[in-house]
Amino acid sequence: MNDTKIIAVIGATGAQGGGLCRAILKDSGGGYRVRALTRNAGSDKAKELKRLGAEVVQVDIDDVESLKKAFRGAHGAFCVTFFWEHFSPEKELAEAKNMADAAKQEGVRHVIWSTLEDTRQWVPLDDRRMPTLMEKYKVPHFDAKGEANRLFTERGIPTTFLLTSFYWENLIHFGMGPKRGEDGNLYITLPMADKKLPGIASDDIGKCAYAIFRRGSEFTGKTVGIAGGHLTGGQMAAALTRALGEEVRYNAVSPEAYRGFGFPGADDLGNMFQFKRDFESSFCGARSPEFSRALNPSMKTFEAWLDENWDRIPVEKGARRASGE
Ligand SMILES: NC(=O)c1ccc[n+]([C@@H]2O[C@H](COP(=O)([O-])OP(=O)(O)OC[C@H]3O[C@@H](n4cnc5c(N)ncnc54)[C@H](OP(=O)(O)O)[C@@H]3O)[C@@H](O)[C@H]2O)c1
Repeated sequence: MNDTKIIAVIGATGAQGGGLCRAILKDSGGGYRVRALTRNAGSDKAKELKRLGAEVVQVDIDDVESLKKAFRGAHGAFCVTFFWEHFSPEKELAEAKNMADAAKQEGVRHVIWSTLEDTRQWVPLDDRRMPTLMEKYKVPHFDAKGEANRLFTERGIPTTFLLTSFYWENLIHFGMGPKRGEDGNLYITLPMADKKLPGIASDDIGKCAYAIFRRGSEFTGKTVGIAGGHLTGGQMAAALTRALGEEVRYNAVSPEAYRGFGFPGADDLGNMFQFKRDFESSFCGARSPEFSRALNPSMKTFEAWLDENWDRIPVEKGARRASGE
């Protein structure tokens, strides 16, 4: 037990960190132990991780001292920030700095930083193709993560920069699933034209991260992009049609229309999809499903994810079914 390596996992009760915790806990003889970091050790999810064998430690990523304690003695740290909790890129930057400072101070040997592209390297702020948001960003929840990469590099921390993909769970939890149009048909709405969207079962992010920790120095100082598949809106609609047993159509809207949908973050997501659409080859090229599968052989395709999750996707009943026919 003593020569096992501790991996401190931020967001252990969430999607990315949770997948990593489960991957490590499942591999009991693998030589790694989980330190699950949470703000609330008493939550049901934290208790479940403890029951499965994790050490549960309380942390607040806004408090560098708590992060130092949480990283103490750890071989590796999985670092992720939570944009959608606060919608502040500045907060993400400050939290990433806390993580980098704590990892440096505690001598963590391998950090995986869950990052995304700084889209301003492709679309500078004065580029009028998409609006500048919050004065400094094109895609706030991407740009701050990409900008934060240097916080790890500058401190000389052995870091793997993990580029994640669109979670297919967004169809369940993020309101992006099929919606019924006025004509009674089901539509998924994306501003991607005929371009491919890299996607992933969120649990696979942690499985890939575990493989990266296991392969160690091979991946420090490197950027690794992962996806379970690259699909057009039409291909996603066809797979949803098969899984749900009702036709789902692809409603390709413009990024301008998407930005105007009015829900919190619609402008950020409209710019994000426009970036993915306009830079398809570089965005998809950075996330090879073949490479991801070599890292994590159980990586799910969209179809396999749907087989397991189709009944969790909220779908309004059609007029015919709602009226009992
Ligand atoms: N949705 C997508 O398609 C997608 C794709 C790629 C990347 N991302 C990025 O993924 C990130 C979120 O990761 P996720 O999906 O794994 O998150 P998540 O499932 O929403 O989990 C959030 C977890 O973070 C913990 N947390 C929140 N604030 C904290 C704090 N101040 N200190 C410590 N822990 C805190 C919470 O745990 P406790 O309550 O237990 O503390 C919670 O379980 C976002 O930044 C997003 O941009 C999302």
